[in-house]
Amino acid sequence: MLLNKLREYFGTDVFSRKCYITSKFMNKTFYITTPIFYPNAKLHMGHAYVLTLSDILARYHRLVEDDTYFLSGADENTGKVLKNIKSGNQNVTEYLDELSENFQSLYKNLNISIDQFIRTSDKEKHWPGAIAFWNKLVEAGDVYKSKYQGLYCVECETFYTEKDLVEGKCPIHLVVPEKIEEENYFFKLSKYTQIIKENIESDELKIVPATRKNEILALLDRGLEDISFSRPIKTVPHGIPVPGDPEQVIYVWCDALVNYISALGWPKSQGDTLGSLDPKGVTLGLFEKFWPANVHVIGKDILRFHAAIWPAMLLSAGLPLPKSILVHGFITSGGHKMSKSLGNVIDPQDLINEYGVEAVRYYLARHISPFEDGDLTPESFKESYNAHLANGLGNLASRILTMADKYGMSTVDIIEPKDLLSKYEYLDNFDINGYMEHVWTLIKMADKKIQDEEPYKKYKTDPHNTMKIVSELCAHLYEIAIWLKPVMPETSKIIIDCLYNPKIKKPEKPLFARKD
Ligand code: MSP
Repeated sequence: MLLNKLREYFGTDVFSRKCYITSKFMNKTFYITTPIFYPNAKLHMGHAYVLTLSDILARYHRLVEDDTYFLSGADENTGKVLKNIKSGNQNVTEYLDELSENFQSLYKNLNISIDQFIRTSDKEKHWPGAIAFWNKLVEAGDVYKSKYQGLYCVECETFYTEKDLVEGKCPIHLVVPEKIEEENYFFKLSKYTQIIKENIESDELKIVPATRKNEILALLDRGLEDISFSRPIKTVPHGIPVPGDPEQVIYVWCDALVNYISALGWPKSQGDTLGSLDPKGVTLGLFEKFWPANVHVIGKDILRFHAAIWPAMLLSAGLPLPKSILVHGFITSGGHKMSKSLGNVIDPQDLINEYGVEAVRYYLARHISPFEDGDLTPESFKESYNAHLANGLGNLASRILTMADKYGMSTVDIIEPKDLLSKYEYLDNFDINGYMEHVWTLIKMADKKIQDEEPYKKYKTDPHNTMKIVSELCAHLYEIAIWLKPVMPETSKIIIDCLYNPKIKKPEKPLFARKD
């Protein structure tokens, strides 16, 4: 069979053949990052979303054999930590270690396939990068000392101007910010307004979706002001000291944002111990291999940090800009921000416990837009689970595999799936909802074929034709399983394992048991 020949040649996945060829000749790399999270006691649905979205993209790029690197981490040098541990007698390091373990358990339970988890408290991996970056900006003449007066929201770790506030309060946390006056180092952000604008307008630095591109361009049109770049050490005693000034610590920008390159070993040069071989046999460090990032995935609240401040810092340091920034919206529940007082907080771990990780990944991929706000309620989740996983995919897989099992069909009866190589463009354009709609269209088509042709009724009278129909259905199911790989890797594997036995077998238990 053609399919088997292809498999012999390209390995078990025909899915990868296009990219096998592309990557063989183009040697593409793909570097994707999530924001680094503040050390919250628990990661919430928003974190689960950005992680799942990024994971789907990373898995897709690995499938098509791009040399992929997926980074996430924790933003730990923050004053918030002190507030949280004041009550106990734990020290900062112990507290952060504990939180970081909590983080990593959600990563594991969500099946997030990161290559590295960077922590900004890591003095070996992260601090040398942050300090070297600071020195680069000083060398460029872009750092100066000045008096700072500002309105500071501890929750966002951000200074606001009067005009940013809503009724005198922080627009995100709705708390009155503290008035702060201190002597700080400043970064000449204003100097870079025009060049960043040009890069964004020309899509050299592509901001997706276009609405966010326009938002940041409008901000750039109003002009950028220089920003405070350090804080007195007493505010974050465990922070990174400013080189040459032990009274000050490096403020979030030159600390947190630098994670995207410190994790790659910057500023170490070529041939460091993290190295791998490029096509010419030269040893490359991770930085040389993967920077600039292909995409930083972020939420809409940190657009300015990533699309204005970070590019300005990179330009000042003489480093290339990331290629794109994907800006997703916020997850609400019943149309409202999730909050304890509204009682509408949904814990991703609870959903995983009740429905399984694959169902959570499914919902986030299919029903939450990567470009706008999306909604999730316990009711909407259950409804979609029953309709599209229990009755949809699960039922279809079980019907097809049960027939093939019963009729004693073997793997070689599967005909080559058609249209295997199209539809990547959805994922290339980050349109995960569109991609999922495509998969569910295939599921509906297969359901209709069973309904129209009723093979289960015909086996006794016309076994030859029935087997042909079931073969086609198996090929259809194989195609669905392949498409599902980046989004629902375990379900995809179960289906493919059932199909690729000497004899096709039905799954041991229902893929998605109905919930009442
Ligand atoms: N530490 C900074 C990021 C620094 S990146 C160099 C930070 N951390 S955070 O933990 O507060 O937020 C992490 C991410 O979660 C952000 O991208 C934010 O947009 C996202 N979300 C927080 N609440 C969210 C929702 N309700 N819905 C979707 N994502 C949201 O910001």
